[in-house]
Amino acid sequence: MYPEYMNASLKKVEETREKRYALAKERGKEVFTPQSEEEREAVLANYHPDYKDDARREIRIGPNKGERITGRVADVLESWPRDPSSRFDLSRIDYETDILIIGAGSAGLSAALEASARGLNVLIATKLRLGDANSMMAQGGIQAADQKDDSPVLHYMDVIGGGHFDNKPDLVEALVNDAPKSIKWLEELGVMFDKELDGSMSVKAGGGTSRNRMHSARDYTGAAICKTLRDEVYNRPDTIKYIEFSPATELILDDKGQIAGAILYHLETKEYSIVKAKSVVISTGGFGRLHIRNFETTNHYGATADGLVLGYRAGANLLYMDSVQYHPTGAVFPEQVVGFLCTEKIRGLGAQPVNKDGELFVYPLEPRDVEAASIIRECENGKGVKTPSGLTGIWLDTPLIEMLNGEGTIESSLPAMVRQFSRFDIDIRKYPILIYPTLHYQNGGLEINEKAETSIPGLYVAGEASGGVHGRNRLMGNSQLDIIVFGRRAGTYAAEHVLAGVTIGRLTLEHVDRYSEKLEKLGIDKKRISPVILPDYIPDHVKAKQLTLNYFGTLT
Ligand code: FUM
Repeated sequence: MYPEYMNASLKKVEETREKRYALAKERGKEVFTPQSEEEREAVLANYHPDYKDDARREIRIGPNKGERITGRVADVLESWPRDPSSRFDLSRIDYETDILIIGAGSAGLSAALEASARGLNVLIATKLRLGDANSMMAQGGIQAADQKDDSPVLHYMDVIGGGHFDNKPDLVEALVNDAPKSIKWLEELGVMFDKELDGSMSVKAGGGTSRNRMHSARDYTGAAICKTLRDEVYNRPDTIKYIEFSPATELILDDKGQIAGAILYHLETKEYSIVKAKSVVISTGGFGRLHIRNFETTNHYGATADGLVLGYRAGANLLYMDSVQYHPTGAVFPEQVVGFLCTEKIRGLGAQPVNKDGELFVYPLEPRDVEAASIIRECENGKGVKTPSGLTGIWLDTPLIEMLNGEGTIESSLPAMVRQFSRFDIDIRKYPILIYPTLHYQNGGLEINEKAETSIPGLYVAGEASGGVHGRNRLMGNSQLDIIVFGRRAGTYAAEHVLAGVTIGRLTLEHVDRYSEKLEKLGIDKKRISPVILPDYIPDHVKAKQLTLNYFGTLT
């Protein structure tokens, strides 16, 4: 339950609810006018963390040398390899495969299925277990323009607008055109999407979408998709092998500059193995566990930007690494769930963000960066509610959902949210939840084309590790879509690369040596090492519970 001192504010939320409900009934989604372009730019410039003076710094090494990117990401890229190349004898191959897939969220699993469908041997290497990924934790939905009043063109416009017109057009075209068939593919594999009584898809709104096109499986959409893909991978043991607890620490090239495999490090045995492959897919996810600007995160423990490091050191360039996505609604109370995702579907169903006086202060479904910045503004202007541990949040008025959609909607549409808060005696049907933006998504990443191909022959990237699809701000539900569309494309084109008859030359880590020479010249502290693999510090609230996060025993 909420502490007593919050009662006065809760009462104000309750008192204004009827009026806000009446307005929502009268005006539908337009209960609060979306901000003009000028207003959006102003709130971003003044309150979004990306726009702070010290948010970015120049990277001094590698393909993006000279660009200003997120400082913490620059630090991770300007770090030493875990081991010198001399440690490895590349003539001693432990595993040989057609296609190596690094990462086992929905992007990697989709890639594996497509490559296996072409009769090739696939090896999946994953840091934790199959499906231990942000994909599994996604809640709200997956976008696809498959309704009568919608079209891929409208979807395209929304993606590009949401991304501040910085998206790579070819990638957006691939995303929106493949979307309806991706939903069909997932349904055929067994994903059970929410349906209306007549059997048609139940679709909802998301921030920045001009049509209702969010398909969901209650608020367990990511789990429904990822578990189905994982089961399908388990069904193909002849062609798809996997190694768990084995993050990649370096990519291997050949003497022609093509991809040739990777080095894996087993977290339990602490042994290295060398994988030779004709194509490699990076599907390692994002960077939430870097806790950029000390934000809490929705991400799983393995989200430490490893794929960026591997690809960058091998010579692949990055796009939009100056842009970070803060999900507008992370939990700030109770302490045990600080930073956890409170799905955008809550707002899609009609819940409104209101300040400590019960005032609705922003259109509930602005694009994520604008919504997050507006919430930060409200808190910085003294209109937030303080938590017992000194954080500040605003209310997300969940009881409105049942007033607008009927009794039982919350339990049937948001069971994960009900469970998350009922553990702490907060009934979200009766009481609002306290939220603040939380680090959610890596908008940029390794540059790909519409075949999910990088500039390195044979190297493909899919999902959050890639950059360009979402420009500088992704909309809700386009990540679940991206990992399916580009996961499948990566698997397909990685297979085509192999089937075209590629031959691998002498294996080499000379690119790592060259990178290390530059680090030496810059005088980088030898203690700075990447890929990070797992967070090397524990947030205070976790420390208090004495959980151990790090396999390397380097906790302080
Ligand atoms: O709010 C959410 O459910 C998150 C969805 C997404 O990031 O696409």
